[in-house]
Parts: sequence; structure tokens; C-alpha cells
Amino acid sequence: MTGRVRTATPEDAGRIAVIYRPIVVGSAVSFEIDAPGEEEMRRRILNLPAAHPWLVWEDEGLVQGYAYSTELRSRAAYRFSAEMSVYVDEAFRGRGLGRSLCQAVVDELEKRGFANAFAAITLPNPSSVALFTSMNFEQVGVWRAAGFKLGMWHDVGWWQRRLSRTVEQ
Ligand SMILES: CC(C)(COP(=O)(O)OP(=O)(O)OC[C@H]1O[C@@H](n2cnc3c(N)ncnc32)[C@H](O)[C@@H]1OP(=O)(O)O)[C@@H](O)C(=O)NCCC(=O)NCCS
Repeated sequence: MTGRVRTATPEDAGRIAVIYRPIVVGSAVSFEIDAPGEEEMRRRILNLPAAHPWLVWEDEGLVQGYAYSTELRSRAAYRFSAEMSVYVDEAFRGRGLGRSLCQAVVDELEKRGFANAFAAITLPNPSSVALFTSMNFEQVGVWRAAGFKLGMWHDVGWWQRRLSRTVEQ
């Protein structure tokens, strides 16, 4: 496997929008209904809260996947918990990119003092469940029929990994 993980820049917005689009349009993996274009992706990259990482996997100048975290919920007591997402271009799946991106986000969250990483997975999604399970996340619950998309109700499974933060502040 060649390539490397690096921090996303606004210039990555076009490729990120291309990778994300089929997931929004053709599946319930994302609960967005309209696929964001390049401009909107640029805005999201620029507006991500400073505490959270947004990383891409790049090989020979081509972004093939990305991962980021956001705040889990807005109330202050949730400030040490992050929710993460990972997306790999369909043509590059099954080569370890998802795992590398997931590991890199977890490393960043640990460095930044987070206590928990969460992932919300629309069920079923065997590849995502396999990825987070292999990254030592454990399933902590299911929201039943929490989303309605593409003419169906969808369950959302929650996965959690405790991080190394021990100091309470
Ligand atoms: C989920 C996703 C990010 C995984 O990325 P990937 O680069 O294909 O995954 P990797 O090659 O790094 O594999 C990671 C682990 O999951 C396993 N895995 C990946 N796809 C799998 C599949 N379809 N079935 C079973 N296991 C699978 C791998 O064997 C590997 O396990 P290991 O580390 O124990 O060897 C990718 O499939 C994707 O982008 N899917 C669409 C978007 C999505 O569902 N994102 C998650 C939203 S929460």
C-alpha cells in the first residue's frame, strides 16, 4: 500500500465531494438527502471546529479517502466525546485505507485530549461494522428506525471506543 494520511485542505473539497456523492445519492450510509457540491465541502472543511481533525488519504496526488470527526452533541458536557466518519472511494476499498484513516483520526483525538470516539452506522453496513470492530470499537446501542431515506426506515447502530484521557477537567 502506497500513499499517506495528511490533513485535509480546502483544495481537497472537489475530490471529497466526488467520493461522498454516491454514498449520499445511492445509499442510507449517510442521512443527507442532497449531495453537497465542492463549494459546500470547502465550507465544511473550513468551518470544522478547531478541536476536530479532518484527514485525507492521498496517493500520487489523488485523494482516495477521507475521515473526520465532529462534536458528538453540542451541550458542554459532551466536549470530550467525538463522532467520527470514514469514507473511501469505491475503487480503493479493501486495501487498508479505511483502517489507516480511522487509526489516524483516533490518534489525533487522543493527542487532543478526547475521552471517547463514537461512530454511528446505518444498519446493515458489514464493511463499516468490520472496520470499527477491528479498530476496537464496541457496539453500545441501536436507534431503531431513526432515519427515513430512499423509501425506508433505517436503524442506526452506535459504536464507541474509550480513548486514553484520564484527567477530568
Ligand atoms: C467502511 C469503509 C470506510 C472501509 O474502508 P476500507 O478501506 O474498504 O477498509 P479496510 O480495507 O481498511 O478494512 C478494514 C477492516 O474491515 C474489514 N472489511 C472491510 N470491508 C469489509 C467487508 N465488505 N466485509 C467484511 N470485512 C470488511 C477488513 O477486512 C479489515 O479488517 P482487519 O483490519 O481486521 O483486516 C469503506 O467500505 C467505505 O467507504 N464504505 C462506504 C462509506 C461508509 O460506509 N463509511 C462508514 C460510515 S460510518
